[in-house]
Amino acid sequence: MSKRELYRQVAALHVANIDQGFLSLLGVRFVSLMYQAIDEGEESVLLVIERDDRVIGFVAGGSGMRPIYRRMLRHAPRVMLALLPSLFSLRRVRRMLEILRYSHRNDRSVHLPRAELLSIAVDPAYRGQQHAETLYRKLTEIFSRQGIDEFKIIVGTALAPAHRFYRRMGALPIAEIEVHQNEASTIYSQRLSMTIDAAE
Ligand SMILES: CC(C)(COP(=O)(O)OP(=O)(O)OC[C@H]1O[C@@H](n2cnc3c(N)ncnc32)[C@H](O)[C@@H]1OP(=O)(O)O)[C@@H](O)C(=O)NCCC(=O)NCCS
Repeated sequence: MSKRELYRQVAALHVANIDQGFLSLLGVRFVSLMYQAIDEGEESVLLVIERDDRVIGFVAGGSGMRPIYRRMLRHAPRVMLALLPSLFSLRRVRRMLEILRYSHRNDRSVHLPRAELLSIAVDPAYRGQQHAETLYRKLTEIFSRQGIDEFKIIVGTALAPAHRFYRRMGALPIAEIEVHQNEASTIYSQRLSMTIDAAE
């Protein structure tokens, strides 16, 4: 599979399965450029599971969204083209501003770990087969090798299976925030030593 097709499939999985955040509103073309930036970035990582030449699950991690957006700006004309349809929607523009405001606030926070699990999703046809666990553990191994001992995960309250999954992996809820107006999210903290404990 070409890299371009891989990013498109990851983006399609994201948009279909993580429909709470603003990213899904921006469409597969924009999200696909974002995953390209995550994959190519030095401070971020994209891991995928493929079956029969199809992406059936992925996880992305890194140190916040800012370096990723900055990398995307290197392909500004393509990004603008991908964003164009969304810029005509006031609701989508408002959501974009909300998330940018959040990432700015978050970068200055001293309480939260910098490293973050940015997104994870498994195709509904392949759920319940521990694919998410495999991806989660691989990401924690990579974070560990980078000397990271704690990372955060921000999860919309409505994503109930994701909350069960993170708690099972040993992540602890540490705060409630509103990334979007009237839409609560929980911030989890995952200590890497706790992942190992949870597996024992
Ligand atoms: C969270 C998520 C990644 C977990 O993926 P997964 O690979 O199915 O994880 P697991 O194999 O550990 O199984 C998860 C659950 O599915 C159940 N399950 C078992 N067989 C199943 C099947 N055939 N189909 C669906 N679920 C099944 C498991 O028992 C487990 O139950 P629980 O939620 O009550 O604990 C997946 O639910 C998902 O993609 N959700 C949508 C995206 C999302 O919310 N991402 C997080 C936001 S960043």
